Amino acid sequence: MFVSAKNTQPQDDLPLHCSFARSDWVILAGFWHPVATSGEVADAPVRVHLLDMPVVLFRTRDGVKAAKDVCMHRGGQLSLGSVCDGLLVCGFHGFEYNGEGTCVGIPALAKGSPIPKKLRPRNFQCRERYGLIWVCLADQARAEMPGWPQIEDGSGTVIRIPSYEIKASAGRRVENYNDIAHVPFLHRNSFGWPPTDIAPYDVISGDNTLSFKVDILEQTRYSGEFGGQLRQYSLLNNERETDRYVISVLREEAGRGGSRSMHGGVAEGSALRIGAPRNAFPLEESAAPVVLLAGGIGVTPILAMARSLNARGKPFEFHFATRSAARTPFLAEVLSGPFKERVRLYHDDNPAMRFDIGRFVDRLAAGTHLYLCGPGGFMAAVSEALAARPDIVLHREYFTAPDSGQDAGEPFTLALAQSGTELVVAAGQSILEVLQAHGIDCATSCEEGICGTCLTRVLAGEIEHRDHFLSAGERASGDRMLICVSRGKANARLVLDL
Ligand code: FES
Repeated sequence: MFVSAKNTQPQDDLPLHCSFARSDWVILAGFWHPVATSGEVADAPVRVHLLDMPVVLFRTRDGVKAAKDVCMHRGGQLSLGSVCDGLLVCGFHGFEYNGEGTCVGIPALAKGSPIPKKLRPRNFQCRERYGLIWVCLADQARAEMPGWPQIEDGSGTVIRIPSYEIKASAGRRVENYNDIAHVPFLHRNSFGWPPTDIAPYDVISGDNTLSFKVDILEQTRYSGEFGGQLRQYSLLNNERETDRYVISVLREEAGRGGSRSMHGGVAEGSALRIGAPRNAFPLEESAAPVVLLAGGIGVTPILAMARSLNARGKPFEFHFATRSAARTPFLAEVLSGPFKERVRLYHDDNPAMRFDIGRFVDRLAAGTHLYLCGPGGFMAAVSEALAARPDIVLHREYFTAPDSGQDAGEPFTLALAQSGTELVVAAGQSILEVLQAHGIDCATSCEEGICGTCLTRVLAGEIEHRDHFLSAGERASGDRMLICVSRGKANARLVLDL
């Protein structure tokens, strides 16, 4: 595997933000690397990174193909598109690419019109073997793919190693791969795929400790047909219970796929990569009256709040609106729990039990702290009715962003201070899309401006906030923004700490 750096040929194909020395990258690009399991590349394109290169994998009748994950039209991320009749279709403007990496269809052109030759994304050698997808980034591999006859004849044992990012130089990584002495000690939880225990955690670090959210990477990259998707769920745990996470996930057929992957792909024994809990919807300590209002599955953080208030002996009201009794999550628990006297239920399918927003808002006592969580439409309707009650302190948490009817915005320039890169964000594009199209990975989850995952430091420039997460004070500080939805001011320059 080792080839002298002096043997490397100069070439200019390095990824935009390459963390490798050029000579290291050129050597490593000439070898075959496993980048995904066969099961991961099914009907939809899949994005992977190999040596910092964003690569899209897609399955055709002739096997799995690999190309640079950038559409030649506007630089969109091809992996956000789809695979149709063996063609990779860009999700932004519908450009179609075949397995050889040639553009064969442009929706805006009449059928049979010649297609510009430059519309050819960079494609890579790709093979499927041993249940894995292998990619070589160089046009000519420096060595044949490794072979393991023991796997083919069934005499060997296959182990899988979860994917994770290693911040180390190429030389250090290779050295680590070859140092098997540390494996039994350091990798005992990753080799052989045993479930990893959840370490005890402390949610009682003050009074504002409830409704923590936990980031859950739904299915790891190596666990079958569901790709890794980061989602956040409210913890339902009793605040004294700190040795497990309890969440509830409503299956949403029309959602982006996170809940479907949880319902369809996670079973007892599945390993999920999770982050530490964090709290974006704190229960404030105050002498003011407290009213909890939940709509549908929005009851999850509200339920945890009710438990906490009850345990503290603090009086509160708990209003819970759903479509019907049959579609009321945690109904038995709410009706039989220790705070059942405080619960008032509303159901849309029963005229006598419908939730009357105007009446509800009118009878709130002045100074009440109202905690609200539910579907976007429900939240928007309640928030609107509260506009006439400035004496109410509203705390809310969105599950889905309300339809704010915002326009596509104007173009602006994006400067990345750490790398010195300048990019243009066009109308209708988000900062996040532009960064991803240029191979810059950012932590994201909801991509609707409600969860705070993509919070980024702003060093200069005016921000057009479009999120539903930051407080008025945080917005006024001008030093942070949610890059999945918020923008820079029209035709101006925004500098991010990236
Ligand atoms: S990803 Fe959730 S706010 Fe941006």
